Amino acid sequence: MSNPHPHPVTAPPPAPSEQDLLPPKVDVDVHAPLLTYWRQRERQHLRDVYAGVRIKKFPEDLRVFEHVLWLSRTDVVVELGTHLGGSALWFRDRLRTQAAYGRTSVPVQVISVDLAQERAAAILAEADPDYAREITLVEGDVGDPALAERVRAMIPPGARCLVVEDTLHEYPTTLAALDHFADLVPEGGFFVVEDGIVDDPELRPPGMPGGVVPAVRDWLAGPRGAAFRMRRDLERYGLTSHPYGWLQRVAAA
Ligand SMILES: C[S@@+](CC[C@H](N)C(=O)[O-])C[C@H]1O[C@@H](n2cnc3c(N)ncnc32)[C@H](O)[C@@H]1O
Repeated sequence: MSNPHPHPVTAPPPAPSEQDLLPPKVDVDVHAPLLTYWRQRERQHLRDVYAGVRIKKFPEDLRVFEHVLWLSRTDVVVELGTHLGGSALWFRDRLRTQAAYGRTSVPVQVISVDLAQERAAAILAEADPDYAREITLVEGDVGDPALAERVRAMIPPGARCLVVEDTLHEYPTTLAALDHFADLVPEGGFFVVEDGIVDDPELRPPGMPGGVVPAVRDWLAGPRGAAFRMRRDLERYGLTSHPYGWLQRVAAA
């Protein structure tokens, strides 16, 4: 008698529930202080989701990223701080859109760096089995100057690069990221230092020591920073997690 089940039947993993795919809801009392709303939004952004993958960014900041990617004709995003990979996926999809509009000149790519990448690799493979075609996960420490050289070797000639620093949000790591990676940014391009909110005592998430904004200011005042301008005018939507962090190169490297 032939086997009625020629292939072993294995139970598929449970599908994520709608609640897994949505950020926590924020309730607004428009008469309450803005700080109450801010705190809810800050908590929410830690549990937001893109294409089924956790992403830690405010929607308002994602819109600003869309503007700067467009304005600077970015082809390659170098992301420092992958976490679970949601932001790498988001940047990849935005770059694909840029390419569809003819705003890129070389094949698009996201190079995303973290201390360890095993978890992000597994999550990204589940979200998009073909993710590695345009997203390269790199293991390394932003404090290591050799890491920047490894990343530089992956960038195709002529690519216009945007760098986003989203690692530890302390003074030494912020300074190291700027020192080691800013020269990947072409004239007109952007280096985005995330989460300057850690330096505002009222906005600082619990347990974060701060040091991001002082590092940005010190670096801009030094010889390498002279070629960059702080674009506070790009904090267009009022709410941002990255005050003082939108930096544009205005002179050649
Ligand atoms: C805020 S999370 C990144 C969030 C992600 N970019 C997003 O928007 O969803 C910060 C990540 O930086 C990594 N990190 C911390 N210190 C680092 C360092 N010195 N070098 C590289 N990555 C680091 C952590 O492992 C963590 O995954």
